Amino acid sequence: MATNRTYTMIKPDAVAAGNTGAIIKMIEEAGFRIVAMKMTQMTPDIAGKFYEVHKERPFYADLCSYMSSGPIVPMILEKENAVEDFRKLIGATNPADAAPGTVRKLFAKSIEANAIHGSDSDENAAIEGAFFFSSVEQN
Ligand code: RTP
Ligand code: MG
Repeated sequence: MATNRTYTMIKPDAVAAGNTGAIIKMIEEAGFRIVAMKMTQMTPDIAGKFYEVHKERPFYADLCSYMSSGPIVPMILEKENAVEDFRKLIGATNPADAAPGTVRKLFAKSIEANAIHGSDSDENAAIEGAFFFSSVEQN
């Protein structure tokens, strides 16, 4: 069943560059309601758990070190067709391939430091949201 929710986090490069507000504005203007939001920083171990699905990928160690290098802004978002529409709003993983006007085209620095995360399925949206927020916070 579609949850109409997705999970995102503004990544360390975008927070450090002072792009948090601009990215949140794009998210709200695209029609997403922010259901939960905070600023936090992952330890390398926590990043390793979050990205466990990628543990066999060659970029896993770099990714965990980068994602724990500074504050992030995790959010749960709500909108009809949230997962797919949000992936469209953020654009391709590599900013060089991202469509004009997408968050990654505007703000990503590289294929790794690519400004923002977006869940790739309803199932992962629920798992990832619960990783960062308790059910009480998800109003
Ligand atoms: P995300 O999970 O962050 O929304 O990104 P995605 O689905 O577009 O990409 P995914 O394949 O899930 O990869 C997760 C994150 O790992 C970093 N990455 N680095 N160096 C590389 O070749 C490489 N490839 C991916 C990126 O930060 C990517 O978003
Ligand atoms: Mg992904």
